[in-house]
Amino acid sequence: MQLTTPRLELGPFSPDDGAALHGYLGRSDVVRFEPYGPLSRAECDAEALRRVTDPRFVAVRLTGGTLVGHLYAARVEPQAWRTWTVGYVFAPGHGGRGYATEAVDALLDALVHDGARRLTARCDPRNDRSWRLLERVGMRREGHEREAASFADDEHGDPVWHDAYLYAQLAHERPDAARTGR
Ligand SMILES: CC(C)(COP(=O)(O)OP(=O)(O)OC[C@H]1O[C@@H](n2cnc3c(N)ncnc32)[C@H](O)[C@@H]1OP(=O)(O)O)[C@@H](O)C(=O)NCCC(=O)NCCS
Repeated sequence: MQLTTPRLELGPFSPDDGAALHGYLGRSDVVRFEPYGPLSRAECDAEALRRVTDPRFVAVRLTGGTLVGHLYAARVEPQAWRTWTVGYVFAPGHGGRGYATEAVDALLDALVHDGARRLTARCDPRNDRSWRLLERVGMRREGHEREAASFADDEHGDPVWHDAYLYAQLAHERPDAARTGR
């Protein structure tokens, strides 16, 4: 995927994105709601390399090249349902300017352009910045899933369950659907 928005360039990862990735994936506040803990610099170097050939990950850069975050888009099985789930993580130093909103909006448009029928995302209800973003791009809260996932164990080794909001939007509900006749 290669896209340009008014302020951003969306495209593949590069093998030398490790340092920039570590700038945000190394922070416990950034990955608080992710299924993994803070990554070391070495893990980020490996992750950058892995993402070069993983089309589900999209690097988001300021025009000129600075990595400010990434998007994730995966097709849900069965493929005939033409449903995609998306995710995103952005560097806090570039937060609060609408970059994540701009990038996710462009991603959803691109997925619909490529044939997606239904777009979904899940987030922890405590992650208000995440669900506010999803509402800014026009997604609808379709569910509150109780104890839907666990990303950590407690001191006894038992899973700590947390809820999830399910957000979704249909292709014909995208803002430019009327104009393009979807
Ligand atoms: C979720 C996350 C991407 C949201 O970041 P964010 O900075 O709030 O999102 P944006 O970059 O779209 O910026 C939106 C904010 O900038 C403001 N803003 C400024 N200029 C803007 C513009 N041109 N367009 C839109 N919003 C703009 C908005 O009002 C909003 O601020 P508010 O929430 O105080 O109203 C970020 O918190 C993050 O990466 N968290 C860690 C990872 C994570 O939890 N991912 C989701 C897992 S489900």
